[in-house]
Amino acid sequence: MSSNEKIFFTYNDIHNTIQKLSAQIQQSGFEPDLIVAIGTGGFIPARIIKTYLNKPILTVGLKLYDENNKPKDAPEKIQWIDEVEKKLKGKKILLVDEVDDSRVTLEYCLRELMSDEPSEIAVAVLHNKNKEKRGSIPDEIKLYFAGQELPDKWVCYPWDAIDINNHGK
Ligand code: G4P
Ligand code: MG
Repeated sequence: MSSNEKIFFTYNDIHNTIQKLSAQIQQSGFEPDLIVAIGTGGFIPARIIKTYLNKPILTVGLKLYDENNKPKDAPEKIQWIDEVEKKLKGKKILLVDEVDDSRVTLEYCLRELMSDEPSEIAVAVLHNKNKEKRGSIPDEIKLYFAGQELPDKWVCYPWDAIDINNHGK
C-alpha cells in the first residue's frame, strides 16, 4: 500500500457500480454461460451481477493474505470447483472479483481456469486500482471489464464493516 488514505464504499455504491459494469458486459456482446466468483471478496459482487446477467455462479476460494495480513508468495486455494473439467470445458466464463490490486490472484485464477479449456474467459472486477501490477492478464484473455478505476489506496468494503451504520463516517 502506498498511501494511508482509505476509500469507503456503501452497499448502494457497489450495487450502482455493478449495474454499470453489467451494462458494459452486455453492450460488449459477451454472454457468459457461467459466472465464476473468486471468494471471498468476489462473492457479493458476483451475486449482484447475477441480478443483471442471470447466469449461474460457481465459486473458488483463494487467499493471498495470511492471518497477519501479510501477502503470501502465491495465493492459497481454499476451495476449488468439483469436477472442473466437466463444468468449464467449452463454456464461456465470466470471472468476477471485487478488486484488481496486484493482479497476482487474478492471474493465478485465470491460468488455472484456462487449463480446463473453457471456450472463452472474460474478467469483471468491481474496482481496478491504477498501479504497477505484479501479475498480468494472459494474452488469451480478450475481455476485461472494470466497474470503476481507483487510485492505489486501501478500499473499505461494507462487508468488512463491524459497525455498518458508521461505515465511512
Ligand atoms: P488481484 O489479483 O485481484 O489483484 O488481488 P491480489 O492478489 O492483489 O490480492 C487479493 C487479496 O487482497 C484479496 O483478498 C483482496 O480482497 C485483497 N485486497 C486487495 N486490495 C484490497 C483493498 O483495497 N481492500 C480490501 N478490502 N481488500 C483488498 P484475499 O486475502 O485473497 O481474500 P478475500 O479477502 O477475498 O477472502
Ligand atoms: Mg480480501
